[in-house]
Amino acid sequence: MAETFSKEYIADCLRLKDRAAIEQLFTDAYKVKLAHVGNAVYFRGIIELSNRCRKDCLYCGIRRSNAKPRRYSMSREEILTAAKWALSRGFGSIVLQSGERNDEGFVSFIEGVIRDIREMSGGRLGMTLSLGEQNEETYARWFRAGGHRYLLRIETSSRDLYCKIHPADHSYAERVNCLRVLKKLGYQLGTGVMIGLPFQTYDDLAADVEFFREIDVDMIGMGPFIAHADTPLGAATVATSDLTGRSATVAPSDLTIPVAAERLDLALKMIAVTRLYLRDINIAATTALQALSPIGRELGLKAGANIIMPILTETKYRGDYKLYDNKPCLDDSAEVCQACLERRIKSVGHVIGYGQWGDSPHALRQRSSR
Ligand code: 5AD
Repeated sequence: MAETFSKEYIADCLRLKDRAAIEQLFTDAYKVKLAHVGNAVYFRGIIELSNRCRKDCLYCGIRRSNAKPRRYSMSREEILTAAKWALSRGFGSIVLQSGERNDEGFVSFIEGVIRDIREMSGGRLGMTLSLGEQNEETYARWFRAGGHRYLLRIETSSRDLYCKIHPADHSYAERVNCLRVLKKLGYQLGTGVMIGLPFQTYDDLAADVEFFREIDVDMIGMGPFIAHADTPLGAATVATSDLTGRSATVAPSDLTIPVAAERLDLALKMIAVTRLYLRDINIAATTALQALSPIGRELGLKAGANIIMPILTETKYRGDYKLYDNKPCLDDSAEVCQACLERRIKSVGHVIGYGQWGDSPHALRQRSSR
């Protein structure tokens, strides 16, 4: 089977247009998921603790040049309250996510929060960090404090495309280096990409899947690109139907992106081929899928994902943490999100892995062989 997984084969899967063939791809991925990671879906409650960011990514709603969001930072107490809620509801893990900052004030604040959560939960709550690019010392401090998984999307493994969607002071090499450092330090490593970006080609996406294997990921969080009107890239893109079918690029011309339904399908195909190619890792059905379809996350589970990230951020902050337009669940509370997601997960035949960290078999194997 492995030899059928050339880059060309992956790109061909991503280009599929025939509905029956696409559904077959999803069914195959679903089966591989059951065989390699089982029938449980794990919750990672996400706490979006601050939207202050030093970066200026051309696609992101909380980029530093966007004056519209009210900038906020949750207090230690607010973060701890959210973590306690997650624990009391049986969540095995949380994700601490925020805009990127590197100043000592932020670094030590996070270090303290991680330590507090570890103590509060007696180590029962798994902690994933999603706090951007940091130096090795910072990553090491947060690891010692109790963070053990780190999510840093490569966004795209194509250096060219990376340069197009970031300002000149963002370095692709630095980002890749961060991933290597995180792995070396012993974190379970997560990365991911945006799917359906302007300029993106099917070969770029196939190379992304190969990149995941190369850096030996334990977890993937990836989703469709969704324009944000107050960003340079979002304002410039237009969604159109890809009439050419087997063209090299995902959309017909440079600043176009596929229409919502095609972008959703493409994101689901990426989940499916990643599951078929890497098998025993954790893959998230991300919230962005649901910005394109009311049942986007269920479709993600059916195409091979096994992780859901319910938003725990207090409702009053949600409107200011919009990385993309049409972000769902903005008016909901954590209680509502949990109940709604439970129903959605059961509707596609899964059980919820309450009370467990839910590490991927891939990560567990590596730990036991260290
Ligand atoms: N569309 C989709 N995903 C986005 N992200 C940021 N902006 C957008 C957007 N416009 C994703 C990036 C980042 C993650 C936290 O959110 O991939 O890594």
